[in-house]
Amino acid sequence: MSERKQYKRYLVTSALPYANGPVHIGHLAGVYVPADIYVRFLRMNDEDVVFIGGSDEHGVPITIKALQQGVSPQQIVDKYHGMIKKSFEEFGISFDIYSRTSNKVHHETASAFFRKLYDAGQFIEKVSLQYFDEANNQFLADRYIIGTCPKCGYDNAYGDQCEKCGSSLNATDLINPRSVLSGNQPVMKETRHWFLPLDQYEQWLKEWILEGHKDDWKPNVYGQCKSWLDGGLQPRAVTRDLDWGVKVPIDGVEGKVLYVWFDAPIGYISATKELTPDWEKYWKDPETKMVHFIGKDNIVFHCIIFPAMLKAEGTFILPDNVPANEFLNLESDKISTSRNWAVWLHEYLLQFPGKQDVLRYVLTSNAPETKDNDFTWKDFQAKNNNELVAIFGNFINRTLVLTQKYFDCLVPQMNGLTDYDLQTIDEMKTFPGRIASSLQHYRFREGLSETMNLARLGNKYLTDNEPWKKFATDPERVGTILNIALQICAELAILSEPFLPFSAARIRSMFNLPAMKWKDAEKGTWLAPGHQLGNPELLFEKIEDAAIEMQIQKLHETKIANETQPTPLKPAKEMIEYDDFARMDIRVATILEAERVPKTKKLMKLKVDTGLDQRTLVAGIAGHYEPEQVIGKQVCILANLAPKNLKGFTSQGMILMAENPNGKLFFVTPGEGAINGADVK
Ligand code: 2FM
Ligand code: ZN
Repeated sequence: MSERKQYKRYLVTSALPYANGPVHIGHLAGVYVPADIYVRFLRMNDEDVVFIGGSDEHGVPITIKALQQGVSPQQIVDKYHGMIKKSFEEFGISFDIYSRTSNKVHHETASAFFRKLYDAGQFIEKVSLQYFDEANNQFLADRYIIGTCPKCGYDNAYGDQCEKCGSSLNATDLINPRSVLSGNQPVMKETRHWFLPLDQYEQWLKEWILEGHKDDWKPNVYGQCKSWLDGGLQPRAVTRDLDWGVKVPIDGVEGKVLYVWFDAPIGYISATKELTPDWEKYWKDPETKMVHFIGKDNIVFHCIIFPAMLKAEGTFILPDNVPANEFLNLESDKISTSRNWAVWLHEYLLQFPGKQDVLRYVLTSNAPETKDNDFTWKDFQAKNNNELVAIFGNFINRTLVLTQKYFDCLVPQMNGLTDYDLQTIDEMKTFPGRIASSLQHYRFREGLSETMNLARLGNKYLTDNEPWKKFATDPERVGTILNIALQICAELAILSEPFLPFSAARIRSMFNLPAMKWKDAEKGTWLAPGHQLGNPELLFEKIEDAAIEMQIQKLHETKIANETQPTPLKPAKEMIEYDDFARMDIRVATILEAERVPKTKKLMKLKVDTGLDQRTLVAGIAGHYEPEQVIGKQVCILANLAPKNLKGFTSQGMILMAENPNGKLFFVTPGEGAINGADVK
C-alpha cells in the first residue's frame, strides 16, 4: 500500500456506543461500516491490524436511562451491551475485540492513567460552585440538569450540550435551569474537581493539527478543530460528583468518578490490553498508525481532549487520522433514540434476514462523508433492485449461467484476443489500485462506486460481445468471452469483499475460490482454464413494494405516536408542612377590568375585586386570552404575595392558573356560589 508514511501496523478504533440503547443506521453509516470496510481492506493487504470496539457503559446517559426504567445502571448496560455485541456480530462488523468499559481491566487502566497524570501534577485542582439538587442531595452533573439554551432558546437543553442547535454548553449557561431528578430549581454548592489544563496544550495542538494535518484530515474534522482552537481552550473538568463510573483514585475522595469522556477513550487502550499481551506495540510504537472512526459529535473529544491526555501521559502515540463522518437522517428527519425515529440494527436483521450486505451497500453508497445525508426506504429499495440486483448480481449470474450452459461449469480457454478484449483486460487492471487509493483516503463511497463500475464493465462486455449469439458458429470465441467475464467475476469477489463481505463469500463459494488477497486482484488472472465452477445462485433478490410499505408505515405510526404523546408531567415537588400552605392567603376574586401591558406579548393588567379591596394584578396570560374574554371571570388569587413591579405597574398578588405540560394556561375557578373574598384552603 502506498501512502504518505510507511507504517508497520494499524490500530483502528471505532467510537464506543453508549450501552443505553440499541445501535441504529446512523451509528452504522457514521462509524462502524466505514471502519469495517477499512480494516477488511487492511487485512486483505496482509497488514498487521487490530480493530477495537466496545460499549461505553459509564456516564449520565446510562444512569438516566436506569432512572427512567426503574432499574439499576448495571442492568441497563448488561442488557444493551449484549444486544449491541450480538447485532454487530450478525451484521459482520469484524472487531478483533468488542469489550466494555465496566470490565475490571478498564477500571484499572483508566485509574492508572488518571493517577499517573495526577502524580505528575498535570491536573489543576479547583473548588467551584456547581448546581446541586437539595431534594435529592445530589450534584447535577452534565445531563442531570436541563434548561433553556442561551443560543437558540430550546427549552430542554442539557447542562453540557443543546441537542437542538448542537452548541456545547456549561450548566451555568442554561436559562431557568431545572433538575432532571426533582424538577426543582437547583442551588449552587461548592465542590472539588480536577481539571485538565487544555489551555496549556493549545499551542502544541495548533501545531499538531492546524499545521501537521491540514492536508490529510477531512475538511469537516479540520474545520471543527480549527474553530475550537481559534476560540481558545479552557481547563476542562475530568471528574464528576456521581457514583456510577471509575472511582477517582485519590485517597479520601469519595462519591466522585472520572468524567465519562475521560474514561471512555481509555477504553480503546483497555480493550487492546484485553486482546493481546503485546498491546503496547499498538499504542506506543510510532510505527503504528492509529485511526479513530467516529461521528461528528465526537470530534472534539478525539482530536483535542484525548490527544491532550495522551500527550500529558507521555508514552502513547497520537492518531494519524480521525475520519469523522457527518450525520445520517432518516426520511428527512433527524434520527432520534428518544423519539424512536430510527432503523434499529437488531430489528433490521430480523426483518431482512440474510440482507446484511444490502444495508451495508446502501449506507456506504449514501454515506454522510462530507455532509449530512438522508436514508429513505424507497432509496433502499431502488439501490437494491436497480443496482445490486440489476447490475452486480445480474452480471455474476449471467456469466455463471452461460458457462454452465456452454461449458458445463468449467472455465473455458482464452483464445485469440480482440482489441476490445485487450482494452477490457487493461481496464480491469486499473480497478484494484483505484479502489485501494479511495480506501486509503477514507473515500468509501468512491471505492464502492468504482467496484460497481467494474460490474458495469462486465455487463457491458457481455452485452457488446453477445456470446449467446455466437456459440453455434464460434464456440472458441464464446470460450474467450466467458473466460474474460469470469475473470471479472473473480476480481469482483476480491474487490467487493471489504464492502459486501457476505456476498463476496457467496461468490467465492459459487466459484470454488479460496479467500483471496488484494494483490490477487492486481495479478490479473485468477481462474485457470478447466477450473470447476459451482452452480449459479442468485446473489441478491428484488425487494418488493410491500416490504418497503411496511417499514414506511411503521415510521408513520411512530410519527403519530410522537405527535400525540402527552408531554410528561412535572415531577412531584418536595413535601411541605400544613403551616407552609396556611401562610398563603388564597381568595376568590372577580376580574373587573383587563388590558394588555403595552410593548409586551405576555402581560395583562387586571383590576380585581377581592372582597376586601379592588387592586391591580399583572398576569402573564396575554398569550392565551384576550382582555374581553377574562372580564367578569371569577378566579382564585394569591393575595398576600409581596407586591412586584412589572413593566411599570405594581402587581399586588398573583392570579392562580393551571398549566398543562404543553404550556397552555387555564383559570382556576371556584364553583358556583362562592363570593369575592372567600378563603381558599
Ligand atoms: O457519543 C457516544 O456515543 C460516546 N459513547 C462515544 C465514546 S467514543 C470513545 F471515546 F469511547
Ligand atoms: Zn440551542
